[in-house]
Amino acid sequence: MKKRIIQIGAVLFMGTTILMAKGYTQADRIMDMQKMAQAMQDIQSGLLYNNLDIIKSGTSVLKDTIIKVRAIDEEVNNKDIYEKWLNNNLKMTNKIQKKIRKHADTLEERFADGDAVQALQEYSKIIGQCMKCHVRLRKW
Ligand code: HEC
Repeated sequence: MKKRIIQIGAVLFMGTTILMAKGYTQADRIMDMQKMAQAMQDIQSGLLYNNLDIIKSGTSVLKDTIIKVRAIDEEVNNKDIYEKWLNNNLKMTNKIQKKIRKHADTLEERFADGDAVQALQEYSKIIGQCMKCHVRLRKW
């Protein structure tokens, strides 16, 4: 029995360490945001300079980074239910993440097909999704 409790304790301890290691801080998020802003600039350069490789490197960073974005620990643990709901709106965040990734793929495809106008439209749809979070979810 005692051994069993120690085992359970060890599992719980390991679980907590893993959870803590997964923590997402404000600094992490700001860094991810800046990475995405740079990726968007790269995509824009690719469109202007007619360079698919630059576009691809931008969409690749964008897609890898957007999936990391989420509420930071303080927001998840917020005692104010309304604020918590506002900042940790997982459903909306997931939807935005999916859309950004989809538009990034389409942008790349359209540009590769020689349709820069459609590619640009996808670009503005991506910015629209960024702003959706900044404005609607965050009330900026
Ligand atoms: C799910 C919500 C969400 C999405 C989606 C989102 N952002 Fe943000 N963004 C934030 C939050 C929250 C902050 C404020 C970060 C902080 O100060 O804690 C922020 C801040 C920023 C900043 C300012 C960073 C700084 O240096 O202070 C930039 C730039 C930015 N976002 C770019 C983007 C771009 C580009 C996209 C789309 C590709 C995007 N964001 C999508 C939530 C989001």
